Amino acid sequence: MSSVAMPTSWRSVLPHLDEPLPPDRSPEATAASSDAGVSVNLPFALVRQSAPGREFWDIPAEVLDAYRTFRPTQLWRARRFEEAVGARVPIYVKYEGGNISGSHKLNTALAQAYYYAKAGVKELVTGTGAGQWGTALAAACSIFGLRCRVFMVGTSLQKKPYRGTLMRTLGATVHASPSDLTEVAARAGGGFNSLALAIGEAVEYAGRTEGAAFCIGSGETYSILHQSVIGLEAIEQLAELEAEVDSVVGCVGAGSNFGGLALPFFAEAAATGAECPRLVAAESSTTPKLTRGVYAYDKTDATGVSPMEAMYTIGSSYPIPDSHSAGLRFHGAAKVLSAMRHQNQITARAVGQVEALEAGQVFTRTEMVLPAPESGHALAVAARLASGRDDEDRPTRGVVACVSGHGYLDLSAYQQLMDGELSNEPPVEQSLLAAMDQLQPVQGLAIAGSGHAV
Ligand SMILES: Cc1ncc(COP(=O)(O)O)c(C=O)c1O
Repeated sequence: MSSVAMPTSWRSVLPHLDEPLPPDRSPEATAASSDAGVSVNLPFALVRQSAPGREFWDIPAEVLDAYRTFRPTQLWRARRFEEAVGARVPIYVKYEGGNISGSHKLNTALAQAYYYAKAGVKELVTGTGAGQWGTALAAACSIFGLRCRVFMVGTSLQKKPYRGTLMRTLGATVHASPSDLTEVAARAGGGFNSLALAIGEAVEYAGRTEGAAFCIGSGETYSILHQSVIGLEAIEQLAELEAEVDSVVGCVGAGSNFGGLALPFFAEAAATGAECPRLVAAESSTTPKLTRGVYAYDKTDATGVSPMEAMYTIGSSYPIPDSHSAGLRFHGAAKVLSAMRHQNQITARAVGQVEALEAGQVFTRTEMVLPAPESGHALAVAARLASGRDDEDRPTRGVVACVSGHGYLDLSAYQQLMDGELSNEPPVEQSLLAAMDQLQPVQGLAIAGSGHAV
């Protein structure tokens, strides 16, 4: 058992970046967007946590109290997994699935619910893909006495009805998105299922509801800050094991578990002058923003009224095919990760769902932990790296990967894998180009050709 203590501060990477993040831009005021009447009322603490200046942020006592029920999380050397995948260097895993929400999302949900409750908000409204974020927010709202309303991507809710039941058990109201409650869903038409739309519905609903606020689980700079507890613990736990790693891997939806694990390594290296391990983002090949996208201004949701952010994106209008890793089905990467990608401070690999679930199955059999399909992407990349099967990067010391969640409510994905019913659907170039065509470049860069093929 590790004797490492839980961190009492979050650590921000912003003071260590060479350049400030590109500022958000306001969206064009279209008739469709202006009548949605959105008011974004972010608590001041979260605004401050998104700005550079301070590196360490005290975790409020009430949040620490709640963290104590599941942190520090376990980190271990996955020796049997290493053997099964032919690893030449050790693979360490940091497991974030051992809490009521089943994923890392609770780390920021608790912090956000705390700050919103303090700011006088009565109800939090959100969008969720796989459902882990909605579950985490429902749990956090229940702890801090807030009402919770979740718009969940409809196809995902159909596949995982128990996610909805769990959220309701925790006290939340759950709607399948597209719902019949919002203008944005009506405009999109019934068949369009995406996380951007679910988030758009939540933005619109919160904007017109007294005492309610929209909040979001990933992508925002403050949510990545809250997730830094993952990396801060991992650094201490690796030191306790006298282990060194030269690659740090996490899967990327918008980037919060990857950022949470990886960015404290970057900050620590920058602060001490030590060499930084390679920070490797594992994304879904169906949503390849970091490997095939462009660095451009894009929407974060489907309403078109939220600020446009500078991000690696495949275009918010790209119709992302359905997949079992609903948590990775987001068109863009967080702006802090995108800026770092642009500076070559992080790198990325795309993984198909078959490879991801196969890695998850091997992990289940060898380590007796059932990973979420999203986490399978990180394990697949860790296996590629550690076994010398990655063309660009051959770690010589070790790899640490985040297993961001458990897969008990994703067993249908494993069932389809075992029944041979799964395929990979990487986007065809033409449809990606069409979705990225209208985007505004960042810092005067030409859009065409600015994507990285990795
Ligand atoms: C288990 C799990 N892992 C990873 C992700 C991806 O999100 P993020 O990139 O914010 O970590 C999700 C999102 O729902 C998730 O549920």
